[in-house]
Amino acid sequence: MTAGDWSESWDRLMASYQPGREQAIERMIDLIVARRDGRAPRVLDVGGGTGTLCSRLLTRIPEAEVTLVDLDPVMLAIAGASLPSSVRVVGADLRDPGWAGLLPYGGYDAVLAIMALHYLPPDRLTALYAELAGLVRAGGFVANVDDMPEAEAVASASDDGSWGAWWDRAAADPVLGPAVVERARLFGDSSSAEWHPPAAWHVRALAGGPVVEPAVTWRNGAQAAVVAFRPR
Ligand SMILES: C[S@@+](CC[C@H](N)C(=O)[O-])C[C@H]1O[C@@H](n2cnc3c(N)ncnc32)[C@H](O)[C@@H]1O
Repeated sequence: MTAGDWSESWDRLMASYQPGREQAIERMIDLIVARRDGRAPRVLDVGGGTGTLCSRLLTRIPEAEVTLVDLDPVMLAIAGASLPSSVRVVGADLRDPGWAGLLPYGGYDAVLAIMALHYLPPDRLTALYAELAGLVRAGGFVANVDDMPEAEAVASASDDGSWGAWWDRAAADPVLGPAVVERARLFGDSSSAEWHPPAAWHVRALAGGPVVEPAVTWRNGAQAAVVAFRPR
């Protein structure tokens, strides 16, 4: 399979697990379009995986300056081989407070995370929100799209069988196989630990600092987007 095939098969699996995925992505890109000030927007996608958001973004804004951050060597291999060479693909661990030092730019007009931050424990996610907010340029925004129930946490709807089969195929692939082994070393047991607090928790965690008015701007079932803006 080509990197593009891997990327598409990942996306199909994500779409089956994340209802409204395309709509959420389009809403985030709408925000970037609406807040453009004439410059090419600089966009950071943390936990960007195979690069779905980056790819959709570049379809609508080809001149965007895009950085994708992920730790997983399988995701990085697919993203690096399937995205245009203008995308800066950065291997970094969001659990490490020094991760932002690996970024090619000091500030971004949009800092986005799609289904990526639920692997982090509360303390680290709170600190990461402050780090993400600190990267937002004046007039820009930070957004997190994830499972964020309105009230009490709900069980994940993940179909472990489908995910397991995808990873088994990746492990058997001659190109991705070694990256699957490396992935297990990097993540240890934490790759399956998930935490889904209600949206109000995310709103509180984003309050304060350089971004203002954190709020839920989109919802589809348990999925929501929390967005906060940095004044111009
Ligand atoms: C469910 S996937 C979502 C990927 C992508 N945002 C999407 O919507 O297709 C979660 C992503 O978060 C990444 N991730 C998890 N923990 C991470 C960490 N500590 N540092 C960097 N990336 C991490 C995973 O490698 C994976 O690519």
